[in-house]
Amino acid sequence: MRIDIVTLFPEMCENLLKESIIGRARSRGHLQVCCHQLRTHGEGVHKRVDDCTFGGGKGMLLMADPIAKSFDAIVEHTGVKPHILYMSPRGRVLNQEMVKELAAHESLIILCGHYEGVDARVLEEYDVEEVSIGDFVLTGGELPAVILTDAVSRMLPGVLSEDVCFEEESHYDGLLEYPQYTRPAEWRGRAVPDVLLSGHHENVRKWRRAESLKITRKMRPDLYEKVQLTKEDKRLLERE
Ligand SMILES: C[S@@+](CC[C@H](N)C(=O)[O-])C[C@H]1O[C@@H](n2cnc3c(N)ncnc32)[C@H](O)[C@@H]1O
Repeated sequence: MRIDIVTLFPEMCENLLKESIIGRARSRGHLQVCCHQLRTHGEGVHKRVDDCTFGGGKGMLLMADPIAKSFDAIVEHTGVKPHILYMSPRGRVLNQEMVKELAAHESLIILCGHYEGVDARVLEEYDVEEVSIGDFVLTGGELPAVILTDAVSRMLPGVLSEDVCFEEESHYDGLLEYPQYTRPAEWRGRAVPDVLLSGHHENVRKWRRAESLKITRKMRPDLYEKVQLTKEDKRLLERE
């Protein structure tokens, strides 16, 4: 998969995405990430990319043309039709289902807004999907773009090592993750649940499932409402 990020601050994205798991995955060729300077396609000697809004109001808006030229240059280079995203507080709020959907694309372009945002016409022209990372407003789309890139990348084959199983993590199947513990088996008088030390895999599996259900019910009743409880789930919860 290839992800192209169009931004006024490519180094901000690059610095985060060159580290740790995503950085290693990139150098091993499991995914390609390229961060592009929007200003390259700016207007005039000053490479202008923004202007004030029609109709009045404070703040500047990123102009359509430099954005369109950035998209065109990427597509010309890759030769692949991309799915184009604009990180925006107005967009569909990102969740794990969307992350799985996005990870199925061969090529994503992510546009980072700044100031008041971007000229609406470029979003229509390129059939851009708006994606939010939550109901709050940040100063720019760079951190949201990095968050989306990280979440999508870890779904790709080879990015996570074999001992990390994203299918068991929070949100993958609509539940939150069960509590986890490491050594020592007792810490400040708090013991690890006996079942986890028993070596009985089936009992560990049932305990984890029950804990996931209980934590989701307590922390995120909105998610719990959507869970289709199996007969086993009901039995596990009755044991409380
Ligand atoms: C100050 S915001 C613009 C907010 C815009 N005027 C509005 O009211 O919807 C500047 C940029 O930050 C990014 N941004 C801010 N909050 C975001 C969020 N919750 N999710 C994704 N991107 C966000 C977007 O790219 C946006 O264009």
